[in-house]
Amino acid sequence: MRLQDKVAIVTGSTSGMGRATAVLFAKEGAKVVVTGRNEARAKEVVDQIRADGGEAMYLLGDAADMDFCASIVEKTVEAYGTVDVLVNNAGMLSMSPLAEVSMDEWDNVFRVNVDSALRLCQLCAPIMKQKGKGVIVNVASVASFAAHHGFAAYISSKHAMAGLSKSMAWELGPEIRVNAIAPGAIHTAMVDSIGGVPALQFMVDNCPVKRVGQPEDIAKVALFLATDDSSFIDGQIIKVDGGFEA
Ligand SMILES: NC(=O)c1ccc[n+]([C@@H]2O[C@H](COP(=O)([O-])OP(=O)(O)OC[C@H]3O[C@@H](n4cnc5c(N)ncnc54)[C@H](OP(=O)(O)O)[C@@H]3O)[C@@H](O)[C@H]2O)c1
Repeated sequence: MRLQDKVAIVTGSTSGMGRATAVLFAKEGAKVVVTGRNEARAKEVVDQIRADGGEAMYLLGDAADMDFCASIVEKTVEAYGTVDVLVNNAGMLSMSPLAEVSMDEWDNVFRVNVDSALRLCQLCAPIMKQKGKGVIVNVASVASFAAHHGFAAYISSKHAMAGLSKSMAWELGPEIRVNAIAPGAIHTAMVDSIGGVPALQFMVDNCPVKRVGQPEDIAKVALFLATDDSSFIDGQIIKVDGGFEA
């Protein structure tokens, strides 16, 4: 029970790696706040956690809405009294080429992928500072390190997430440690939306472990980063990608 008596917010936990992280954290004793927009999936995750004997609740809203982000922290404290771990995982893809991406699309990608993490961090950090301890885990991407044709807004937002994570570590330490996970190809709804099997095969062919990652591969690293097992790791963007090289 490595997160016994801890309270964890995991954004974007109605599916994929956020869901796997929420479920694993709850198994390790954390009270977990699940967030997303899809109520059926949110309820399913909370039901699964409760069936496993864990404690969780869900909050529904758009991560692009900063008032919703504020309400996540407010309602978490109301229900569970504090916040010990924040996982900024909610994210969206954008597949418009640079020349075609609209300012609305660009803004929305940044609001969901970056601004929400900043806002949640601004609101959770004072609580963690006052307790003298806290952990923030951001979900960046292998797209935080490299670019490819056709994903300008997404790639830019994930580069920003890397910079934001390092800035958070510098400004919030020593009480709060902040690291980011940079997943490679993880089999989730997001990867399915960019071409399913052929896209996955490209990624398998380009990584030495010769398999696609599963959401649980990320959840395990998030757990490591959320506990004192990683107490001397701070400000890092940790690739979890099977050695993927594009
Ligand atoms: N899969 C990969 O290979 C991969 C690789 C690198 C990085 N990532 C990153 O990993 C994170 C998780 O992605 P995933 O692959 O697990 O995808 P996923 O299964 O599609 O999950 C995305 C999660 O984010 C939530 N979300 C998306 N837009 C939202 C919005 N506007 N407001 C609130 N919640 C929103 C979704 O909830 P609702 O649908 O309920 O709104 C869902 O819970 C993302 O940050 C993604 O960029 C993924």
